[in-house]
Amino acid sequence: MAKPKRRFVCSSCGSVTNRWQGQCVDCGEWNTLTEEAPATVFSAKHDLSSGGRAISFEPLDMPGRALVRRSTGIDEFDRALGGGLVPGSAILMGGDPGIGKSTLLLQASASVAKAGGTAVYISGEEATGQIRLRAERLGVASAPIKLAASTSVRDILTTLGDMEPPALLVIDSIQCMHSDQIEGAPGTVSQVRGCAFELIRYAKENGTALVLVGHVTKDGSIAGPRVLEHMVDVVMAFEGERSHQYRILRNLKNRFGPVDEIGVFAMEGHGLAEVGNPSLLFLSGRENTIAGSAVFPAMEGTRPVLVEIQALIVRLQSGATPRRAVVGWDNGRLAMLLAVLEARCGLNFSSAEVYLNVAGGYRLADPAADLAVAAALVSALAEKPLPREAVWFGEVSLAGEIRPVAHAGLRLRESAKLGFAHAFGPEDKSLSGKNGAARETGGRHTSVQLLPNLVDRILGGE
Ligand code: TYD
Ligand code: MG
Repeated sequence: MAKPKRRFVCSSCGSVTNRWQGQCVDCGEWNTLTEEAPATVFSAKHDLSSGGRAISFEPLDMPGRALVRRSTGIDEFDRALGGGLVPGSAILMGGDPGIGKSTLLLQASASVAKAGGTAVYISGEEATGQIRLRAERLGVASAPIKLAASTSVRDILTTLGDMEPPALLVIDSIQCMHSDQIEGAPGTVSQVRGCAFELIRYAKENGTALVLVGHVTKDGSIAGPRVLEHMVDVVMAFEGERSHQYRILRNLKNRFGPVDEIGVFAMEGHGLAEVGNPSLLFLSGRENTIAGSAVFPAMEGTRPVLVEIQALIVRLQSGATPRRAVVGWDNGRLAMLLAVLEARCGLNFSSAEVYLNVAGGYRLADPAADLAVAAALVSALAEKPLPREAVWFGEVSLAGEIRPVAHAGLRLRESAKLGFAHAFGPEDKSLSGKNGAARETGGRHTSVQLLPNLVDRILGGE
């Protein structure tokens, strides 16, 4: 019989090779290849085209069980999930250490249990005493959660097999779990994959909503094989700056709903509090008449969030190389915008240090931020405050044109509602009525076609 081939699996991307290498050829990570138990020679021994059971085919439109979602009791969590927990689904939740994953899931388990569902919370990282202390702090100690500390998948599944399947099963975390059927220490690729497979199979067969907590690596992706993300139905990321109070629960993959919804929370003394209306969250404490500050209506899923963009420009006397520092936005994008302002608008930043900050620890990913950043930069350079009720949005091209962006109407409406009645943005036929009055948005929309027009406007003090 042929000697079975050796298998090496990358712990970062899950790719398989048959010899060891220092660097994974697929993802380029170093020292991530580890040897796995040899592949079975099952397929060599068996002819797979006979001897199985015939499977039956079904039509697509067969009336099946309606999808009934169960509320987690936390509206923002439900919203990020796309409307609540789907029975029999598997959710993977990643996030930096200390961001609040265990806190959120304990709160959700408590409200599911209080609402009459069975909630099982298995911790592989903390002792039950620690979790009980946390539950007291969260004010949920009286909730009838079934709590246990265990890292053995066999023990967990045996216990679950002897009881009514729970509505919610939380495994904190999948990297601590261990199966005695698989070789290797907890956290290795094959262990994580094998344990997740067994737990997901239990969830699918019993209609239990399963939440797996996953550790993240330095660059923010979920540790262990990428295959874990393929195995589950929903992938969520819990984000935020630990030094700031606000946390955003983002949906990265969802087999049962949209992925553009987020949940917003604030970490408080007694756990995570929901922030139902986040639009003004990142604007609090803003001074009106400071040069270099522009308000940007960012979109988070279908919700607009107003954020303040601050720019500071310091002229250098000597010929030293000026610094550019950015917090909360892309470095390369700032360099591009500065180049466009120099090349198309005749402004000179070459002997000036440029600092850009997005207030409140918020991270901007929306490409529509370009125009607001440009407005903040020009205002800082000219030392002229921008009009206090103005918001700015639009994408800037290398030629200095302002390009249309998605959800202009929503951005305008929310800004107007919060007292920012004058929006500067790209021309949008669906928005502007005859004399600049924005249709149905309650605010005024001034269309800007070219960046030089905007610069003239700000420098002209309009
Ligand atoms: P935790 O849920 O343990 O994070 P994770 O499971 O993602 O690692 O959250 C721990 C942090 O949350 C810790 O730094 C303290 C903070 N915290 C509060 O501020 N208030 C609270 O009521 C609780 C329970 C935690
Ligand atoms: Mg934890």
